Amino acid sequence: MSSGEARAIIGPIPEGRDAQIYDAQRRRLLWKMPSGLYLLGAMSEGRRNLMTLNWAMQVAQSPKLIGVAVECDAVTNQLIAISGLFTLSILHRDDRAVVRKFVRPAEDDRTTMTLSGIAYRDAPTTGLPVLASAIGYLECRVTERLDLGSHTLYIGEIVDLDGSNEGEEMTVLSMGDTRMNYGG
Ligand SMILES: Cc1cc2nc3c(=O)[nH]c(=O)nc-3n(C[C@H](O)[C@H](O)[C@H](O)COP(=O)(O)O)c2cc1C
Repeated sequence: MSSGEARAIIGPIPEGRDAQIYDAQRRRLLWKMPSGLYLLGAMSEGRRNLMTLNWAMQVAQSPKLIGVAVECDAVTNQLIAISGLFTLSILHRDDRAVVRKFVRPAEDDRTTMTLSGIAYRDAPTTGLPVLASAIGYLECRVTERLDLGSHTLYIGEIVDLDGSNEGEEMTVLSMGDTRMNYGG
């Protein structure tokens, strides 16, 4: 969408409400919903990616399931659809600048082990990328997928993780630590 183009208003709009005002209120309220801020890792046929994502949460306790909502046209979505795997890197608050690097497909350099210039590691069980400086990460195998229009909801069971970087002094990054918005 170019800056001059009007944004399409997504319905339903309740009867008697001004569509523009309702749309703006809805967007602002959705932006206010607290969330974390993560890097979603994916890989297929040697192509790796890390992607900035805030729509992630635990969705079951037994089994241990994580849900992530991924844009249909994202490279990451294609990679997860093929491999049936994803990782979720949980970031240190000091790493907030890193998320700006992963809003477009990343460039992989295996000699320096960097994606778009940022150090990553291969997670041991799945081989998928995780941020080297992450507080911790989850490795997940997809058990369900749900196509929701703009996004695909992938549900993944945790098959391995590392939380050894975790410490009292570590503060996890969340959306509220940035001036960024997503969705709405
Ligand atoms: C703060 C922020 C949060 C985001 N959250 C999500 C998200 O939850 N799901 C999603 O699909 N894209 C999200 N994005 C957009 C993706 O990071 C971006 O579209 C990405 O480049 C697409 O992934 P790709 O590199 O795999 O093509 C977010 C972007 C920002 C800046």
